[in-house]
Amino acid sequence: MDAVTVHDLHFAYPENTEVLDGVDFTIKEGETVVLAGLSGSGKTTLTNIICGVIPQLIRGTISGQVQLFGEDVIGKTPAELTGKVALVFQDSDEQLICTTVEDELAFGPENLCIAPAEITTMIDTALQRYHLSEFRHRDPAHLSGGQKKMVALASVSMLNPQLIIFDEPLSGLDEDGRTLVAELLMELKAAGQTVIIVEHDLTAVTAGIADRWLVLADGHIAAFDEPRQLLTSKLLYDLELMFDD
Ligand SMILES: Nc1ncnc2c1ncn2[C@@H]1O[C@H](COP(=O)(O)OP(=O)(O)OP(=O)(O)O)[C@@H](O)[C@H]1O
Ligand SMILES: [Mg+2]
Repeated sequence: MDAVTVHDLHFAYPENTEVLDGVDFTIKEGETVVLAGLSGSGKTTLTNIICGVIPQLIRGTISGQVQLFGEDVIGKTPAELTGKVALVFQDSDEQLICTTVEDELAFGPENLCIAPAEITTMIDTALQRYHLSEFRHRDPAHLSGGQKKMVALASVSMLNPQLIIFDEPLSGLDEDGRTLVAELLMELKAAGQTVIIVEHDLTAVTAGIADRWLVLADGHIAAFDEPRQLLTSKLLYDLELMFDD
């Protein structure tokens, strides 16, 4: 099944030239795709459209088609897309708002009025799945960068999103944090989760994780192929998105 279908997508912010100028691609269910491109190429804009943030909360002129698992996205609010797509923010401190990991995990389900006993079971499962059991009563603010990322992922996973988008999950983390998050991404992949990872640069880490690299440049998809195909292409060097470690 197709997870994400984008067809002839155009978008411009008010009083701005077009950021996305005819974008087409399809991501299959279970794929891990790294979305790369220079700063300002429109990565966040594109993921905000997929999440319903644009044009519902951030306005602009949009045309074209975006479907998530066969359902049209444009015009739906982020709340209406709960269960379809979830975003793990670049800055975990912006995402994590509660003073214990347990409360953080309960937050989404409580808003959906799920029964407390059921929420407790869901929390137990998530803590185990994301190796967070020992942090249950800890304040996320006091955890390491990598651990915060895991709490953020566990918290968005509570509502079983069909697609998870990570905005620069490796940025700002130390080596241990990067290893932790990379392992987590591999576990999600093994579990068949559909994932989009937004990254500035194409790295050895994402070459090992990604099924395909999706490269955005000048409002278009400049490349969409397996890392081993793209690593030998001149394009990535021309775009200065080459291998950085
Ligand atoms: N809310 C906004 N209003 C007007 N212009 C915006 C807005 N957000 C982004 N832009 C512009 O749209 C273009 C694409 O920005 P976007 O943030 O999507 O790029 P990006 O690839 O995510 O960049 P980065 O790698 O720096 O995060 C840029 O020219 C940016 O200045
Ligand atoms: Mg961005």
